[in-house]
Amino acid sequence: PVKVTKICCIGAGYVGGPTCAVIALKCPHIQVTIVDLNQARVDAWNSPDFQLPIYEPGLEDVVRGCRGRNLFFSTDVDKGIREADLIFVSVNTPTKKSGVGAGFAADLNYVESATRRIAAVATSSKIVVEKSTVPCRTAESMRTILEANSKAGCRFDILSNPEFLAEGTAISDLFAPDRVLIGSLQTQEGKDACASLAEVYANWVPRERILTVGLWSSELSKLAANAMLAQRISSVNALSAICEATGANIEEVANAVGYDSRIGPKFLRASVGFGGSCFQKDILNLVYLSESLHLPQVAAYWRQVVEMNEYQKARFSKTVVDTLFNTITGKHLAVLGFAFKADTGDTRESAAITLVRDFLLERAYVTIYDPKVEEAQIWQDLQEALPTTPLETIKKHVTISHSALDACKQKEAIVIATEWKEFKEIDWQTVYDQMSKPAFVFDGRMILDVEKLKTIGFTVKVIGRGDRL
Ligand code: NAD
Ligand code: UDX
Repeated sequence: PVKVTKICCIGAGYVGGPTCAVIALKCPHIQVTIVDLNQARVDAWNSPDFQLPIYEPGLEDVVRGCRGRNLFFSTDVDKGIREADLIFVSVNTPTKKSGVGAGFAADLNYVESATRRIAAVATSSKIVVEKSTVPCRTAESMRTILEANSKAGCRFDILSNPEFLAEGTAISDLFAPDRVLIGSLQTQEGKDACASLAEVYANWVPRERILTVGLWSSELSKLAANAMLAQRISSVNALSAICEATGANIEEVANAVGYDSRIGPKFLRASVGFGGSCFQKDILNLVYLSESLHLPQVAAYWRQVVEMNEYQKARFSKTVVDTLFNTITGKHLAVLGFAFKADTGDTRESAAITLVRDFLLERAYVTIYDPKVEEAQIWQDLQEALPTTPLETIKKHVTISHSALDACKQKEAIVIATEWKEFKEIDWQTVYDQMSKPAFVFDGRMILDVEKLKTIGFTVKVIGRGDRL
């Protein structure tokens, strides 16, 4: 197996950035260059005061530890490719917006352009690692492109090495992963390439956590893991609807169910709906794959996980409207949290976007506060959610606030959309004193002390908690 000394990562996003920064930190003997076509993003990674393009706890320390030593960020994609002996392809693979498979299939355009670039500029052999989440058998297409364009003396070995980090905990996930999965062809060359990459991870990951499997299993495992995680949330959210209708409490139910060691306690928190750039996209991708393979029942099974999530979001919006005497027209609401989960500034597929859109369609006034999401991002998300409404009109109905307390002032209702820790610590008495009465709180994340709020005087609605005693 080749001993890897120079790594290039194509794509300096949420995955490529943290993953390869951690590799650089843990492997001082390897030079790691992360390249991207997006100049602004690369500039941010290189900014002297470490104003990095993504917020992730612990990331800044990692980058401070090795940037300029053996970690580099650049827009010179070709140079990065040429110098490296191992290349991660960590570009975006969003859901296709048009054409065949629109709304379901993964858009592989970025993966293909990166692959073609590698084929065009490489002058020596490379191990090419698929880091992006891709449909099963994408590595085959990459291999065909690379082999059809390779020069004499250049060989390309393709590996699949999906990433399992979650945003908000990316650095701790990367420091101590549950497992690292490497898929390769079961040929001698394939196995050698696999051993080369395993050697890199073995600098800090225990050997027994580095799993080596066939290429197609590796690709499919990534879709499978995300589908099964999302399925747990949709299952618990489906039960939360029953709880609300019966007087059961989803926290108690999930706790009791999770005690079964076969089920386990993690990832059973009912919520206003899962968001993030991965779950929906990857499940739809699996649905598309199942349909392409003429497995309609399998496709329908997984599609239901996404449908339940849509239902959960719509159900929550409806609870808000129903509770506020069946109309929120002209009313003032505060939405606390806009990110798709706590500890990230990422808003991709955030349930908060859907909620605010629903409230605006009811002609309410909404004030949004999130500790990490950029203002420009909120406007962009709302414009995309309401494509036929001019931004000026949206801005007449939406205010962005710089503190939770400020956002809640003189509102009729407060909606918790993201489980930021600081929302637990708000001075609720002060909030209550400054609100219109009756004062309502809708907790879409089960983070508030309901009894305390009720004592203050709030009417409180919590996801998955019935009103009947
Ligand atoms: P991202 O959009 O944050 O980053 C992708 C980057 O690739 C962008 O900066 C883009 O400019 C760059 N890029 C695209 N085409 C390029 C090209 N040809 N040459 C150079 N740069 C190019 O995306 P992300 O969230 O980092 O996700 C990347 C992949 O990882 C996706 O397939 C995703 O499904 C998967 N993934 C994401 C997560 C997550 O938590 N975000 C977790 C696991 C896996
Ligand atoms: C997910 C996977 O966890 C990760 O392994 C994969 O690599 C990428 O996709 P991510 O989307 O970053 O990671 O965050 P995750 O913690 O999984 O949360 C996804 C969404 O589910 C969030 O909106 C979160 O609030 C929600 N969620 C999570 C729940 O509603 N309930 C839970 O119990 C857990």
